[in-house]
Amino acid sequence: MDSASIRRKFLDFFASKGHAIVPSAPLVLKNDPTLLFTNSGMVQFKDYFLGNATSRQPRIADTQKCLRVSGKHNDLEEVGIDTYHHTLFEMLGNWSFGDYFKKEAIEWAWELLTEVYKLPKDRLYVTVFEGDSKENLSFDQEAHDYWKQFIAEDRILNGNKKDNFWEMGEMGPCGPCSEIHVDLRTEDEVNRIPGKELVNNDHPQVVEIWNLVFMEFNRKADGSLEKLPAQHVDTGMGFERLCMAIQKKTSNYDTDVFSPLIDFIGEAAKVKYKQDEKSDIAMRVIADHVRAVSFAIADGQLPSNTGAGYVIRRILRRAVRYGFTFLNFKEPFIHKLVPVLGNQLKDVFPELEKQKEYVGKVILEEESSFLRTLEKGLKRLEIIETDLKNKTVSGEQAFELYDTFGFPLDLTSLIARERGFSVDEQGFKAEMEKQKSRSKAAAAKETGDWFLVGEDQKPEFIGYDHLSTDVKIVKYRKIKQKNKELIQLVFDRTPFYAESGGQVGDIGYIENANEKIFIIDTKKENEMIVHFAEKLPENLNATFHAQVDKRKRMLSMDNHSATHLLHATLRQVLGKHVEQKGSLVSDKILRFDFSHFTAMTNDEILKVEDIVNQKIRENIKLDEKRNVPIEKAKSLGAMALFGEKYGDFVRVITFDPDFSVELCGGTHVPATGQIGLFKIISESSVAAGVRRIEAITADGAEQYVREELRVLDKVRELLKNPKDLITTTMNLLEEKHALEKKVELFQQEQANLLKDQLAKKAVKSNGYHLIIERVTVANAEALKNIAYGLRNQFDDLLLILAADVESKPQVTVMIGEKLALTNKYHAGNLVKELAKEIEGGGGGQPFFATAGGKNLNGLNAVLEKARKLIA
Ligand code: ALA
Repeated sequence: MDSASIRRKFLDFFASKGHAIVPSAPLVLKNDPTLLFTNSGMVQFKDYFLGNATSRQPRIADTQKCLRVSGKHNDLEEVGIDTYHHTLFEMLGNWSFGDYFKKEAIEWAWELLTEVYKLPKDRLYVTVFEGDSKENLSFDQEAHDYWKQFIAEDRILNGNKKDNFWEMGEMGPCGPCSEIHVDLRTEDEVNRIPGKELVNNDHPQVVEIWNLVFMEFNRKADGSLEKLPAQHVDTGMGFERLCMAIQKKTSNYDTDVFSPLIDFIGEAAKVKYKQDEKSDIAMRVIADHVRAVSFAIADGQLPSNTGAGYVIRRILRRAVRYGFTFLNFKEPFIHKLVPVLGNQLKDVFPELEKQKEYVGKVILEEESSFLRTLEKGLKRLEIIETDLKNKTVSGEQAFELYDTFGFPLDLTSLIARERGFSVDEQGFKAEMEKQKSRSKAAAAKETGDWFLVGEDQKPEFIGYDHLSTDVKIVKYRKIKQKNKELIQLVFDRTPFYAESGGQVGDIGYIENANEKIFIIDTKKENEMIVHFAEKLPENLNATFHAQVDKRKRMLSMDNHSATHLLHATLRQVLGKHVEQKGSLVSDKILRFDFSHFTAMTNDEILKVEDIVNQKIRENIKLDEKRNVPIEKAKSLGAMALFGEKYGDFVRVITFDPDFSVELCGGTHVPATGQIGLFKIISESSVAAGVRRIEAITADGAEQYVREELRVLDKVRELLKNPKDLITTTMNLLEEKHALEKKVELFQQEQANLLKDQLAKKAVKSNGYHLIIERVTVANAEALKNIAYGLRNQFDDLLLILAADVESKPQVTVMIGEKLALTNKYHAGNLVKELAKEIEGGGGGQPFFATAGGKNLNGLNAVLEKARKLIA
């Protein structure tokens, strides 16, 4: 069975059991303060478990792209070293939202594994939760009893809280779980050591493949457990491990999920897999990491220096570094794997195949720049090495390499070892801790638990139609952000738009006869709309009149609708490869990032502006459709964005069906005329293959144009209102240029004159021509020319000039060619001594030296001292 059939059979099986099959959610999370990435199949359904939203289907199954590289579930350091952990992996899952529970979950898991996949029953083990007295949780007798119907009792093992109580993160839904493990060792090995002794013991061939979680609790911020309103099932099966089991392999990397990548890497490196442990690890690291990095970028996450972007950057760097050190990849290589991977998964996750050129470019750029720092880091390490007294790289130095050059500690240690010195690893760890606590303090954000005021419910958003309404508070909590205490409020219904789809959240206030509370921001937390206030209302049970700040909302709407017009126009002017890669829509500006590989020309920018403004003047009416089935929306040609999570029903925003149709939850103008004016203010690069346009509309554009006109008027006025401003300005510049030329000639003549005068003053003494004079010259260049001119005239010259150069003192010493040969005088030494009189310093060659100084009044003293020195 190849991996594609294994995946298909899973989905077909659960479809036959009444499950709706849904697509994988994007890897990168946008509205969840507790997680950066989807780390499990259940993440996209979190709100269903918590009761913040209700699923339209009580049974769902899918395959979900997951990333376990940060937070509670983090496998990064194992990846590549062992053969069964991954950064990105597929999790096959089936869910029941308040529908079936343990009985069916267990029954179906067994049926699928043993009857459909035909895994040998005598190689399977299951675990059940043994209970935990501290948490007041009892042994899972129920699960135990269901399992007993299928599997011998001695194959049912008890597991502790660490292994058999699953939690999504520090907070969130959780519950006892039952895991299925498979023993893939040879018959001989099985006879020697029974599999049950190896379950949950990090054996590469006795591994967990499926986890059935029975969701019953919510872990609160204070650490306590709260019973959920209903019981749910959340299961997750590691697709790659399942393939290993079914395909009878001993490593995930030997399955057809990874072999195309491993083969490609092997050919490029001219290395055979399974010949050398070090190169094997490097090949696995690269094969694994390219998947994580490619899909994260395809889902809209660019590598960067913070947050999710930094995690992606680190994964990619880990891969580059393994390739560099163990496979001799000194040139960017990983980007070449993108088309291989895209093609391999095009039927399941088409987003990569569709964007492979873009994703490849981003990775290439990132690889190239890291390879450069890698080399710089290696040089730095060489410098450190020459300084080493006790043959140890200090913790601070290793940390600098890590922090500035992206050198992981193991790379520094490896290089150190090769060169015969060591690294203070403890010291490094201490530095790392210091940094962690620094960044913790910087990000200090404490979140309390929600306090329920009314009955818990998902707020109804009425802000598409209303800007004010009466509301009641459903729940609130206190949070601390950058040492400031804020209150988060959830209402039963709300006109406030929560930041999403790039559009900023609404501000405004809620008030009643007794108090008025300002709402300073509105954000989403998964599906929940959260209002930020600086103060907790005194009477939480009262009814409040909620009012959205109309002006901010209207201006944001102008910018949002203009963004749609811009998007459609860019595709028309630049081509269909243009995809939205990010956007920000506020009341002041719109910022639109899109895939395009070169800078836009001036003509293209003007053309885009023209078309958008033309569409504004056409005053196209908004066609807003809510609750459109997603398939229908797509058939209307609606543009969906990669990395965006869409439900089964979507909102479609159309400004002329032949021009702009987008899936969008934002707020829009009733007709484009309201936007007034559209003006691009910049076009720049954000990353390889991503351009950014910043533009303004309406009042902002008007103010911008007004300001530009004001500047122009001022210039015109300064030039005495000429008829033709451009010609006049050009003439002015030409005149200026001609005058400068004249001045220059004049100064040259002056300098020549001065030179002649000085020549006449030359005194023949001791067999050489001595000139010690004070002069005033226009610039340093003239002074130098005079000195060289005199040198040409007298080969026995000794010239010392104390000069006023544009009111700054300068000393120049020049020694003629013949005199210089005698080594009697050294211009550099003389200048150094003389410059003291003008509080300056300088130097130069033995025959010519100059020095600048601070004290113009010291010039006479220079002359005096010069005479003394020479005498
Ligand atoms: N959510 C469970 C897990 O990730 C199924 O293991």
